[in-house]
Amino acid sequence: MFRTGQQAEKFEALYWTITQLTVFSGLLSVPNSYRPHLVKMTVTSTDNLAIPQGARVLVSGANGFIASHVVKQLLRNGYKVRGTVRNLKSSSWLIALFESQYGKGFVELVEVPDMAAKGAFDEAVRGVSGFIHTATPVMQIQDPNIAVPTVVEGTKNALQSAVKAGIKRFVLTSSSTAASSPIPNKVFTMDEKTWNEVAVKNAWAPPPYDGVQRRLDVY
Ligand SMILES: NC(=O)c1ccc[n+]([C@@H]2O[C@H](COP(=O)([O-])OP(=O)(O)OC[C@H]3O[C@@H](n4cnc5c(N)ncnc54)[C@H](OP(=O)(O)O)[C@@H]3O)[C@@H](O)[C@H]2O)c1
Repeated sequence: MFRTGQQAEKFEALYWTITQLTVFSGLLSVPNSYRPHLVKMTVTSTDNLAIPQGARVLVSGANGFIASHVVKQLLRNGYKVRGTVRNLKSSSWLIALFESQYGKGFVELVEVPDMAAKGAFDEAVRGVSGFIHTATPVMQIQDPNIAVPTVVEGTKNALQSAVKAGIKRFVLTSSSTAASSPIPNKVFTMDEKTWNEVAVKNAWAPPPYDGVQRRLDVY
């Protein structure tokens, strides 16, 4: 979505977190050596954007922690945003907040009460050029029999709606936990082939489904 190649050097680097790196690495095509610095950034030229400024980007779970920051980054870089929320009434603060910062007409919300329902995003994707899928029941559901199908179906629905709508760019947020849980006092290497098989095994272990570690494994 942002500029590519050498111009990436011009991006303003303000701060970074693993999470936001996860979000934005899918939007960028830049040398790997710059990636740790390219998180909160400003588009310095409007040439070569995969999605032009002024286009609308869909952000699922827009009231969430990561998503609300993603919405802000999109708005400050000249994009329009459509956010999905589970409850329009309780998320109305988002509109008030962003309208106070960026003016009226740049952000709107639509209700998607259950992303796992078939065709959940079919309406929401109409007229958008990019889709950033962040909605997920983070630490909300401890039973893997509910959590895993919800996330898998929600993600499939998001991708299928994006394909049907001919969307140019799709970003799916994940977690460092997908690669590995922290291992205290142990130095180890992770690469693109590292997957947290231990967490998968622990998540699907027999009940009871309680405790913080179990919640983390299911997440
Ligand atoms: N927070 C972090 O430090 C962190 C770190 C690494 C990666 N991430 C990733 O970033 C993404 C977002 O995390 P977050 O911490 O921002 O989560 P969050 O604040 O809990 O937000 C999750 C969003 O998903 C929505 N949601 C939950 N279940 C849903 C369902 N069944 N159907 C539709 N929407 C649903 C929530 O709606 P309600 O508000 O109505 O519940 C909320 O809008 C996740 O992919 C997570 O793995 C986060």
